[in-house]
Amino acid sequence: MDPLSFAGRVVIVTGAGRGIGRAHALLLASRGASVVVADRGARVDGYGVDGDDPAGGVADEIRAAGGHAVACRADISRQDEATELVDLAVHEFGRLDAVINNAGIVRPGRFDEIRIEEYQRNLDVHFFGSLYVCRAAWPHLITSGTGRIVNTVSAAMLGNPLMTHYGSSKGAVFALTRNLALEGAPHGITVNAIAPGAGTRMAESSAASLTPEVMHYLRTQLRPEQVSPLAAYLVHPSSTVSGELFNAAGGTVNRAVVVTTTGITDPDLTIETVARGFDQIMALTPDARPDLVAFPAQPQGASR
Ligand SMILES: NC(=O)c1ccc[n+]([C@@H]2O[C@H](COP(=O)([O-])OP(=O)(O)OC[C@H]3O[C@@H](n4cnc5c(N)ncnc54)[C@H](O)[C@@H]3O)[C@@H](O)[C@H]2O)c1
Repeated sequence: MDPLSFAGRVVIVTGAGRGIGRAHALLLASRGASVVVADRGARVDGYGVDGDDPAGGVADEIRAAGGHAVACRADISRQDEATELVDLAVHEFGRLDAVINNAGIVRPGRFDEIRIEEYQRNLDVHFFGSLYVCRAAWPHLITSGTGRIVNTVSAAMLGNPLMTHYGSSKGAVFALTRNLALEGAPHGITVNAIAPGAGTRMAESSAASLTPEVMHYLRTQLRPEQVSPLAAYLVHPSSTVSGELFNAAGGTVNRAVVVTTTGITDPDLTIETVARGFDQIMALTPDARPDLVAFPAQPQGASR
């Protein structure tokens, strides 16, 4: 297969100054994309900045290698700054084809100790940050004709110790992904989610919520560069899949699905019918559907 080219495509990558986002930016730029490297240089727990300019460093690295990049220190958890980020992309490169929402924060904590403001902070960065960038980018992605969005979620949205705030905000990003995928379809925009794993600064900060074995595995086996081929593929115009969730870690890529089982149907449903049919409600039979449809299958010929 010929190498996939991104020449002429303009891509925003948030949180691109470090870790996984940096790897996305370098890979895309090496294949010809013009990359807007967005990173405010946040502390890993999201409480303020740490004084670095990681976005500037990555943009310099791309340009030194002959690529096209511009740095932006926008805080994507603020709508005005997220909008400025999109404006910068269009001003600098004349168009916008794709967004990879990757910026993230973490600070593990027990449910009964996490302060409510930390839920807000996680929502602000993960959910509203992704939303603000998507919202500002949307008209440009429509104009592109092959607009692409990749949102970054986490296995923690399905449950991980000490991650209630982080995991539930990532669940909101997954729901945003599913809904935007529907809205984007008529415009040729695809929207997908990646749950990555890599030995980054963030992974180190999550040590309290992971076993020593998992931490060792993260540090030694899971490189950010092993996540980026999937992210890059999903923002290429030849990729048409949408509304999907993928895991990517250590060179493994797979699809994760929420399955609706066949379950039971009884118009006169009672507590006892539910109790009796519970095995059938739970059963992952071959006709279980990889979607979120809550309605029973309708008789043939009927329309919804
Ligand atoms: N590393 C993993 O194993 C792992 C696992 C699951 C999910 N993730 C997700 O992958 C993404 C990247 O994580 P990473 O491990 O590379 O982390 P990282 O800490 O190395 O990099 C995250 C970057 O996001 C930036 N950032 C944070 N808040 C920002 C804001 N408000 N505005 C702009 N930039 C901001 C930070 O400055 C940082 O450079 C995150 O969304 C994270 O939740 C990572």
